[in-house]
Amino acid sequence: MTAPSQTADHQPIERITFDAVGFRYNTGKPVLHNINLDIRRGQSVAVVGATGGGKTTLISLLARFYEPTAGRILINGVDYRDRSLHSLQSNLGVVLQSSHLFAGTISDNIRYGDLSAGSDQIMDAAKQAGAHEVISAMPNGYQTVIGEGGSSLSAGQKQLISFARALLADPQILIMDEATSSVDTLTEARIEQGLRALLKDRISVIIAHRLSTIRHASQIVVIDDGRIIEQGNHDELVAVRGRYYHLYQQQSLSNLWQQTEPKVKAKSDDI
Ligand SMILES: Nc1ncnc2c1ncn2[C@@H]1O[C@H](COP(=O)(O)OP(=O)(O)OP(=O)(O)O)[C@@H](O)[C@H]1O
Ligand SMILES: [Mg+2]
Repeated sequence: MTAPSQTADHQPIERITFDAVGFRYNTGKPVLHNINLDIRRGQSVAVVGATGGGKTTLISLLARFYEPTAGRILINGVDYRDRSLHSLQSNLGVVLQSSHLFAGTISDNIRYGDLSAGSDQIMDAAKQAGAHEVISAMPNGYQTVIGEGGSSLSAGQKQLISFARALLADPQILIMDEATSSVDTLTEARIEQGLRALLKDRISVIIAHRLSTIRHASQIVVIDDGRIIEQGNHDELVAVRGRYYHLYQQQSLSNLWQQTEPKVKAKSDDI
């Protein structure tokens, strides 16, 4: 990762604080209540919880797609509403489950993270992301043409390419909605490697589904019905033997969250 420059928009982001954040959409009752979070550079936060609890809303507030309707979100101690939208967005990487791959070559899809990147940088990002071997095995390597939405690729391949793109963009803050698709063991290992590279030296907030992401997070935030009901790292939450511990014991956190919820929303297997 290159050292962040010192201009106003690229000052190093050392700390993000949710201070008693609450939120309601225009159309309804409050969906987040009194959310308090303190995240330092290099830390990752895994957000887990039942469907409809407010996970996506929480990361949407961090990305400033919406702003809090109560409380504040501070970046380096300053309310983000007192800064330009650009100052946040230029430092933000978002990796969503739904793929944002477009029809074109794999190389072009990765380059989208930094339009000025040359082929060496693209390959370097792909190597770090754990995507290089998978790409090299394709008929035309980096010049392989993929369909709209990455239609010709497997879920795991799409995820690795999204990682490479995000690594190339090199954002200070990474927001991710982790894919739920099951992948083979080798791809799983590559995704873990890529994710580690992606999180290093950043602030990341991940709606996490994979147990390894959750275990390795600096903080796990368990959200239920708009409130944080448990917060701590894996060992701390296991020690309190609460909700997290009971789900962890089943070895299937995200599946279990979904099964315990009567109204299971359809989840796309796409990333
Ligand atoms: N655009 C919107 N307008 C109004 N209400 C919304 C909107 N988006 C979400 N909600 C409501 O806010 C609450 C929290 O939704 P959110 O999508 O944040 O939950 P989630 O934890 O991400 O759920 P899932 O695990 O299913 O993705 C839900 O009651 C939902 O119906
Ligand atoms: Mg969601």
